[in-house]
Amino acid sequence: MSQSFFLGIDTSTTSSKALLIDERGEVIAVASSPHTLQTPKPLWSEQDPRQWWDAASASIRSVLEKAGIGGEQVAAVGLTGQMHGLVLLDDAGNVLRPAILWNDQRTQSQCDEIHRRIGKEKFIQITGNVALTGFTAPKILWVKENEPDIYAKAKHVLLPKDYIRYKLTGEYAMDKADGSGTVLFDLKSRKWSREVLEALGIDASWMPPTFEGPEFTGRVTAEAASITGLKVGTPIAAGGGDQAAQAVGVGAVNPGVVALTVGTSGVVFATTPSALIEPEGRLHAFCHAVPGMWHFMGVMLSAAGSLQWYRDTLAPNVSFDDLLKEAESVPAGSEGLHFLPYLSGERTPHPDPLARGAFIGLTLRHSRAHMTRAVLEGVSFGLKDIFTLIQNAGLGKITQVRASGGGTKGVLWRQILASVLEAELVTVNTTEGAAYGAALLAGVGTGAWSDVASACKACVKITGSTMPVAAQVETYRKAYPIYRELYPALKSSFKKMIA
Ligand code: XUL
Repeated sequence: MSQSFFLGIDTSTTSSKALLIDERGEVIAVASSPHTLQTPKPLWSEQDPRQWWDAASASIRSVLEKAGIGGEQVAAVGLTGQMHGLVLLDDAGNVLRPAILWNDQRTQSQCDEIHRRIGKEKFIQITGNVALTGFTAPKILWVKENEPDIYAKAKHVLLPKDYIRYKLTGEYAMDKADGSGTVLFDLKSRKWSREVLEALGIDASWMPPTFEGPEFTGRVTAEAASITGLKVGTPIAAGGGDQAAQAVGVGAVNPGVVALTVGTSGVVFATTPSALIEPEGRLHAFCHAVPGMWHFMGVMLSAAGSLQWYRDTLAPNVSFDDLLKEAESVPAGSEGLHFLPYLSGERTPHPDPLARGAFIGLTLRHSRAHMTRAVLEGVSFGLKDIFTLIQNAGLGKITQVRASGGGTKGVLWRQILASVLEAELVTVNTTEGAAYGAALLAGVGTGAWSDVASACKACVKITGSTMPVAAQVETYRKAYPIYRELYPALKSSFKKMIA
């Protein structure tokens, strides 16, 4: 019998990625096709869904060719992608306007209106979240208010990866992880919230049926097969939003194991066994791509992005390796120097677009090496803020942190993170991100693995571990409360600094 493969497709903001794995979870081939982003007005961020489909089909054809296999050897496909983006279709499935993306900021007044109509506390109780400009619900209200002609033609609401699903299968469907990211979802019952839809005047028939991550939602049509090279009838698993699929990809599928991604932004993702919420909505609380599980998530906007800015601005001709080597000579705590990482405002724990970055505590003694170390420590303290919120919201002790992203490649930053977070930091063999998790979900759908946890156990292996160092822990326990005092002390000054 010929071997079978599973395909993961990630419709991210920057590209459509197709990743093929075999039945042991080994990556066989990867292909990627770029997307462009439009910002027709300040604060706007849009993409044409038809470009995603062209890019996804090109990547699927390319990955099959690279692997040297035919579409009939792909046993199932799993989908993932950027969360929250609004795709509006008419009755015949035509795209009505460019998708409004997760990083679009035009909807603050619609967010306020949602809280006003439903009551902020009640909204948090139902959906697990406050309404943020990034989420989908306020984007629908924006179209209603500003583009009534388009709104009048709308019949289907989808998220980015679900447009790919529609093009592959002809079905309107969504996974529950991404469904909850619309904030039109009842978090506890894992279903659309009639109450929220009614209060916002959104027709419930526009919302597609939702499925658990590994469940099949449809099969490849003859037309899609001729465009992509996949076989007619190939099943398409629900998959998950990029954060949930990324967590599956690194094996963060049980409570107590947390996924930490230190890329441009920093994401802390913690699986929860029930629909836990942070009462003030300071953490995102969504459904996991693991059936019957939920998760908390906190997002820091400038994590490795802070180090990138620092290097580009203050040491443009020095390599990251040399800068970090220099910082190793500085003792933990950077001899009293602090850095606030709010270079692009912040999301968690301070949802404040006007927050600013800062070095605080400079003296003549401080060198560039101190400043570099302070950047690493400041970002780590910001991530600790998210950890603390997660622990206080009912999850308890975090035992293991699965770290990925550019910021965790160097030993020094890993060591600082382990000591600041007071947890074991491990790296894993699966570094391909969300597309890998989507491929695993497809494999679980076929029964290749009995459930998501078994798939992760079989495929995700720990490759390295960093433990906290007692002396550093002691120093950071003293420095962290000082860091905590700085944002509240500066908040009102930041507000007055609008250029
Ligand atoms: C998650 C979020 C982003 C997008 C980007 O809440 O807004 O991670 O999913 O891909």
